[in-house]
Parts: sequence; C-alpha cells; structure tokens
Amino acid sequence: MSGIFDSHTHYDDAAFDEDREELLSSLSSNGIQYVVNVGASIESCRKTVEMVEKYDYIYGALGIHPCEIANLTEEDYSWIREEAARNDKIVAIGEIGLDYYWEKENAANQKHHFERQIAMAKELNMPVIIHSREAAKDTYDIMKAMHAEECGGVVHCFSYHREEAAKYLDMGYYIGIGGSSTFKNNAKAGEVIAYTPMDRILLETDCPYLAPVPHRGKRNSSLNLPIVADLISGIKNISREEVIRVTCENAKRMYGMEV
Ligand code: NI
Repeated sequence: MSGIFDSHTHYDDAAFDEDREELLSSLSSNGIQYVVNVGASIESCRKTVEMVEKYDYIYGALGIHPCEIANLTEEDYSWIREEAARNDKIVAIGEIGLDYYWEKENAANQKHHFERQIAMAKELNMPVIIHSREAAKDTYDIMKAMHAEECGGVVHCFSYHREEAAKYLDMGYYIGIGGSSTFKNNAKAGEVIAYTPMDRILLETDCPYLAPVPHRGKRNSSLNLPIVADLISGIKNISREEVIRVTCENAKRMYGMEV
C-alpha cells in the first residue's frame, strides 16, 4: 500500500524546534511515506539541504519566497543553482512567486526574482513550486511570458477560483491542496477540487501553517493529511486509499523521483 506524499512542508521552521526529531521519526509509522521540505529564505534552504541528507524519505526544494527577497545576493543565487544541480535529493525550485497580501509595495522586485527563478528552473530542467497570493493575474502573465510550461510544477496551496485553476492546468501544472480547503466559507476550494482531474492534484500541508479543521490555528504537520485526503475522497467519490495512492504517484511524477 502506498503511503502519503506531503508535497510541501517547512519542517525547518522554529515551530518544530522542540520535537522535530521525534515528529519526523514518527511519520512513516503513521503512513507518511515521502515529504518535500520547501525552502523560503536562504537560511531555510540551507536547513533543507541538511534535512535531506539526514532523512531518507525527505526531499527538498530550494528557492526564495516573495516575502524573503529583500537581501538576496548573487552569492545566494550561485549557491542555490549549484546545490540544486549537484544534489539528487533537491527535486524542485521553490517556493517562488508573488504575494500581494503581505507585501505589495515591492511588487516590481517580487516580479524580478520570480522571473529570475523560473529562468533558473528552466536551465536546471526542474519543476517550480509557485506561491501566489492575491496576485493571480501577474502570476499567470509572468508564467506565460517566461514559458513556465517548459519546466512545469505546482501552484501550491491553491487559493483562487476554478477559472484560474483551468489556466494553470492548461499549462500542465499541478494544483496543491491542503488544510485551507477544509476551512468554512471556502466553497471555491471544493469547486477547484471537483474540477481538477485526479491525476493533477497534490496533497500538501504547508506545515507548520494551515492546519485543517478541526485543528485550525494549531501547529500543522503531515499527520493531519488524512483529513485533507478525506475531503478530496468525498468530493471525488473515491476511497481515501485511492486519493493517497494517486496523489503520491502525481508527486513522484512531478518531482521526477525514481522511487
Ligand atoms: Ni510554503
């Protein structure tokens, strides 16, 4: 039986400092088979590299989140590029993108680094993990202009309407579904799940953030993913096991993992 693939985590976060070892060691006995730890700052990228070396079942993505670009240097870019090229367990560039919810005044700089990191992913022939919040139009316009369909990837923690999902699906992208889909007043998430073909959905936590109902507001972890799998199972009218099996295959395919 295949286990759960958590396609987007931040286990380097300080929220896990007290019990990281214990929690990570408990994942496999709780049905979590693979985890991708996603870099957001240069510091978290370095920690991600340490984690993939330490744990068999943890893979990593390196990239700079739109809210972490302020002090990015050329050395940082060189390091990410070299590490991503050299390290077999680094499977994507991310998370990268645009965030106009937290920061809008530096939109020009966000766009610059988004474009530059898409270009890097294309050169390295690696998929991208896209973070896009309240920036649907600019995100899509940049992906189109940069021919981001050539590297492929996922729009993680998808927060837009079905019509937007259709555009990313047309570009060959996957849609990341996590805890926020269970929140009340999030009818559009149900519509996006119903609309997205099963072979294009990835399960993700974005932990420590976005714990699903009934744990909303608490620290999230991969252990909560069965709740999200059940939500998808109900909407798609397939078993939880089928959701877990298909989303695991999807993630392996997208990340190019030969396991
Ligand atoms: Ni994230």
